[in-house]
Amino acid sequence: MRRRVATGISKVVDRRLRSQSMHGGRVVVGRDTLGTRNVQWGGENIVGRNCTFVAKKISVGRRTTINNACHIAGPVTIGAYCSFAPGVAVFGRDHPTRHLTTYVGRALLGGHMKRHAKVAPVQIGNDVYVGHGATILSGVTVGDGAIIAAGAVVTRDVDAYTLVAGNPATAVKQRFRNDVVTALLRLRWWEFEDAQLARLRPLLDLDLEAEPDRALELLRDLTGNGIRDHLDEAAPS
Ligand SMILES: CC(C)(COP(=O)(O)OP(=O)(O)OC[C@H]1O[C@@H](n2cnc3c(N)ncnc32)[C@H](O)[C@@H]1OP(=O)(O)O)[C@@H](O)C(=O)NCCC(=O)NCCS
Repeated sequence: MRRRVATGISKVVDRRLRSQSMHGGRVVVGRDTLGTRNVQWGGENIVGRNCTFVAKKISVGRRTTINNACHIAGPVTIGAYCSFAPGVAVFGRDHPTRHLTTYVGRALLGGHMKRHAKVAPVQIGNDVYVGHGATILSGVTVGDGAIIAAGAVVTRDVDAYTLVAGNPATAVKQRFRNDVVTALLRLRWWEFEDAQLARLRPLLDLDLEAEPDRALELLRDLTGNGIRDHLDEAAPS
């Protein structure tokens, strides 16, 4: 019994040693992750081990979680409550493809070709789930609530609440019925304060795909005469 307790404690201590609280305690960062200073953090973020954040102009929204070995090269904007599986890559820039060479390294005239890098920001919405090993290429916009399946290579924009898969990624399905998607985009639950989040409980426990009518009913309660109007009033003009 005592032995089991000791093992539990050492596991907690070990986890603490591996992860560090950084950026004023707003982000927990795993071992060997580099470039977190290049990122504007929304707060309450968790980042795994061996991630790399390259170049400035990266922002990561509130409570977004980034798993191990992700590589993010700015300019990239990521919304709140996103979940990145391990091994995701996002590139807001690319090597030149229309010049003599694609080589941008310093060994060629001190990095002369860097000026020709193709920079096209990536914008990822809120509550986006990016599966293991997916790659999101420069210039792409991913809508709120989208799912990028494991291994997808995303070369084109992804609509809100749409699941894409494959290489190049194509739309597999819209996750929920049109009217449910419209109501979700109006709700913008990811902007709620904690006290307001509690009001989402009935929705959180519902299968929105199987029960769209019930989903709509609950969403209308929240958006029609409740929480969303209150938030809109509180928003600075
Ligand atoms: C996309 C995913 C979330 C499944 O979502 P879902 O809404 O349950 O989708 P379904 O399983 O119904 O799949 C829908 C279609 O997409 C296809 N599909 C699902 N995942 C796919 C993938 N990674 N690549 C290609 N096609 C895929 C399915 O075969 C199915 O095709 P069909 O309609 O022709 O049968 C899941 O497949 C996935 O990729 N998860 C990521 C796993 C991961 O990274 N985990 C680590 C978490 S930290």
